[in-house]
Amino acid sequence: MFKYIKQEIDGIMARDPAARSRFEVLLCYPGFHAIMVHRVTHRLWMAKWRVLARWISQVARFLTGIEIHPGAVIGERFFIDHGMGVVVGETAEIGNDVTLYQGVTLGGVSPSVDSDSQRDRKRHPTLGDHVIVGSGAQILGPFAVGHGARIGANAVVTREVPCCVTVVGIPGKPVSKVAIEEDFDAYGMAPGEQPDPVAQMVDGLKTQIGGLKSRIDDLERELAAYEKMASPGRVEEVRKAAARTVAKI
Ligand SMILES: CC(C)(COP(=O)(O)OP(=O)(O)OC[C@H]1O[C@@H](n2cnc3c(N)ncnc32)[C@H](O)[C@@H]1OP(=O)(O)O)[C@@H](O)C(=O)NCCC(=O)NCCS
Repeated sequence: MFKYIKQEIDGIMARDPAARSRFEVLLCYPGFHAIMVHRVTHRLWMAKWRVLARWISQVARFLTGIEIHPGAVIGERFFIDHGMGVVVGETAEIGNDVTLYQGVTLGGVSPSVDSDSQRDRKRHPTLGDHVIVGSGAQILGPFAVGHGARIGANAVVTREVPCCVTVVGIPGKPVSKVAIEEDFDAYGMAPGEQPDPVAQMVDGLKTQIGGLKSRIDDLERELAAYEKMASPGRVEEVRKAAARTVAKI
């Protein structure tokens, strides 16, 4: 049990740059609280304690802002970042290491129910492993979103998404394909795109040093030209002035 909780917390810490300790995740992450409650309500649902399961999930929704239907099947290390406004429908299926941001809906498209058999049919999407769904995205219907796919913020997706494809816009359209990365890319950024702040700082310093060098070269050239023209006393004066300028730089 503790091993399982630790694994879920570690999954969150690996994917949220803002999470600094396990204790912080335990106390402050509504996505963590919601999935913990879901593990219980799903068991109750499967044991046919359905109203109790739904009631508990509604209490969790009141406390976390995240609505996960107890019937939804969810894999390991599921992470809902921020959480508020997330809805996961009854027949949704979610693989391992999936990440959702706030305001995501895994919903159905047709509200009509003509018979009990229709009530039991699959109405919600199936997400493969390592899928990332950006904030406010709506994935609506009983189709698959392939392993490693990324859904852009605010996209509306109503058709199957192949493995590793990035889909953005309304209606969702593919924009690129990425290799599945075991290492999580926060906010769904393509691998290799995260800026390295140290490298950026070093590049900035290099540019500044290059600018200063060329400025000193210019000054030395001007001084040499002046030396040729001016009297020795005046040259010494200018030399001192130039030394003062260089020292200031
Ligand atoms: C979809 C996403 C994963 C794509 O990331 P990426 O692979 O780095 O893609 P790029 O930024 O190179 O964008 C590719 C193209 O899609 C467009 N695009 C990216 N995200 C988009 C979005 N959400 N909606 C519409 N267009 C989008 C870009 O403008 C670009 O178009 P262009 O080629 O015409 O210039 C990312 O943009 C995204 O939406 N991540 C979710 C972030 C999020 O929800 N954060 C919440 C944190 S609290």
